[in-house]
Amino acid sequence: MTRSLLRILCTLVLVSLGMVSPALAQEETAEVTVDRSATGGAQTLEDILARQQGLAIDDAFRRDDTGADRSGAAIADQLGTLGGASDPELWRALRYGSANVTVSTGAPAANIIIQDSGMRWLAFRDGDLRTYGGYLLLGMIGVLALFYLGRGKIRIDGPLAGKTIQRFKAFERFGHWLLGGSFILLGITGLLQLFGRVALIPYFGKDAFAAYAVVGKWIHNNVAWAFMIGLVWVTVTWISHNIPNRLDLKWIAVGGGLFSKGVHPPARKFNAGQKLIFWSVVVLGVSISVSGLSLLFPFKLPLFAATFEHLNAIGLPQLLGLGELPTTLTPHEEMQLAQLWHAIVAFVFIAIAIAHIYIGSIGMQGAFDAMGKGEVDEQWAKEHHGLWYEEVTGKSPHHPAE
Ligand code: HEM
Repeated sequence: MTRSLLRILCTLVLVSLGMVSPALAQEETAEVTVDRSATGGAQTLEDILARQQGLAIDDAFRRDDTGADRSGAAIADQLGTLGGASDPELWRALRYGSANVTVSTGAPAANIIIQDSGMRWLAFRDGDLRTYGGYLLLGMIGVLALFYLGRGKIRIDGPLAGKTIQRFKAFERFGHWLLGGSFILLGITGLLQLFGRVALIPYFGKDAFAAYAVVGKWIHNNVAWAFMIGLVWVTVTWISHNIPNRLDLKWIAVGGGLFSKGVHPPARKFNAGQKLIFWSVVVLGVSISVSGLSLLFPFKLPLFAATFEHLNAIGLPQLLGLGELPTTLTPHEEMQLAQLWHAIVAFVFIAIAIAHIYIGSIGMQGAFDAMGKGEVDEQWAKEHHGLWYEEVTGKSPHHPAE
């Protein structure tokens, strides 16, 4: 079940990113049909081979056939001594969760002895997640490198005024750097956690990695709180300046002037591009925080069964041709989905942050000063945020492009 869940999860993400069509999603969830008449309904070689190839099989014939006493004593009562039940029946009952397991430890989910979907989750985490996540980040760096080669640094067109105006107050910059600084630490420690086995162990060895991993995990778990405070801080401080309006459409229509020299669409404190970044940070920030908290407090904050129930109720998965999403998940499956979601959101978030960091540093002359010193040259303000300049100084910006 987790396999199809993982597929559903990824398909949902890809569909929402416009990278895959619902038709493909349909194909992905198709099950292999097996003729079991020759074995009297029992498992066939075809079943085993399909499972080994990772294909989806309807396993109801096994799942629903546990605990039967046709081969002897009821296995659910006989876990200590097998009685008349065969070993395969016992393992099947454990695997599908119908054995009546009692454990002395009070740890959460300890009575799940076999977690059927664990290996599939691991294979996805160590495979496609790393591969496509890595491509996404490298792809973003490649696109920005091409942009830089084509457009170069976006320079201030007019002569520098030599006079500055305040762009961000100290408390605004504090919130920004609290969020940005913690994000960078979380991004680095998170990615090293995910890629450590392939990127660090071959070069530094297992011992060195183990020593680092303890520190990295400690940093990640604790810096997370600074990130959440920074997220609230920045949201509250800037939300009123980020409400979309008609001006944004004009800004988008000319690509914000990013692609052509001398084009400066009017903008208030934040332009449409910055608003997009702001809302991405809010949405992805909340999602990464909630899934991160679910990982931080294992088994205490299950998110996905309830979310799938809501999605089913509004009909979104059905609309995408995915059928109903499962609403009964084991505690481990909840944790596995939280981990995957956390990492997928992290990749998308980091890719967006790389673009944001590029434009705020080497990509645009004078941009870093806004958040570094809090002051910008008046000419920069006139060109990039003309209406805001007018509001703050009461003087006309006299756009060079006008
Ligand atoms: C804001 C609150 C956050 C919390 C509470 C949080 C919590 C966690 C926890 C508990 C883990 C598992 C660590 C482990 O035991 O191995 C984790 C992994 C990870 N986190 Fe976060 N995190 C947060 C934010 C972020 C952010 C902002 C990023 C990215 C910039 C990020 C990226 C990652 C990555 C890539 C992993 C590794 C996933 C894996 O090993 O498969 N996290 N996080």
